[in-house]
Amino acid sequence: MTDILLEARGVSKRFGGVIALKGIDLVQRRGEALGMIGPNGSGKTTFVNLISGHLKGNSGSICFDGQAIAGKHPYQIAQAGLTRTYQAVRVFGELTVRENIMTALVDAPHALGQHGVGELADWLRIGHRFDARAGSLTLLEQRQVELLMRLVQQPKLMMLDEPVGGLSSVEVRTMIAILAELKQRCTIFVIEHTMKVIRELADKVVVLLAGEKLAEGRPADVLADQRVIDRYLGNIDA
Ligand SMILES: Nc1ncnc2c1ncn2[C@@H]1O[C@H](COP(=O)(O)OP(=O)(O)OP(=O)(O)O)[C@@H](O)[C@H]1O
Ligand SMILES: [Mg+2]
Repeated sequence: MTDILLEARGVSKRFGGVIALKGIDLVQRRGEALGMIGPNGSGKTTFVNLISGHLKGNSGSICFDGQAIAGKHPYQIAQAGLTRTYQAVRVFGELTVRENIMTALVDAPHALGQHGVGELADWLRIGHRFDARAGSLTLLEQRQVELLMRLVQQPKLMMLDEPVGGLSSVEVRTMIAILAELKQRCTIFVIEHTMKVIRELADKVVVLLAGEKLAEGRPADVLADQRVIDRYLGNIDA
């Protein structure tokens, strides 16, 4: 078993006249927390959509855990152990938390049993909310439920699209603490505009700019790179 978990080569995506990704190469090792940053519209969500099978790319290869996954359906990719959360949280608002979790257990070959689900829910600080309607929860709680729905499937890689977007500074601290523990359970890939998340969690960071890789390396080096400051960090309050 190689220690490379995810390998993308020459991944490209066009939307009509917009080139969202231009030949991205990216390697993520098992256990390595990878951060992806870059300005609005630079292609970060598109990259995750291509990897998770929610969009089909125009070219390039994607290998996950030794399997070629480009062009496969999201459910096949999830069954291989790659899952993701969404920039706009996705839970079933009319269902209770328990019912939301039950939807995630259907057709999941490695799904946890009841005891494991309860243990995860307590760890995620959401076990006491199982009978609440998901739509009545705070955004942080909804993100915790979304994480639980993915984790009960025991993924090898969890891709998180802006996990602290819209949260208060206190809630950001809670989510960072949860994600720091999550790193012990599976490999994480995290898109963020909040650099505190990247500094505290990422082992490696990739910067996208207009669909191309601008920089890549250790967070301390990349966040101090003058090109990254000039073209991204200098314009945001993070
Ligand atoms: N479904 C789509 N149809 C057409 N264009 C799209 C679609 N999805 C993304 N794009 C375009 O592709 C480019 C990259 O968008 P993407 O959402 O990947 O950016 P992002 O880096 O995630 O930005 P943000 O930080 O704002 O979330 C943008 O120009 C966007 O308008
Ligand atoms: Mg995005």
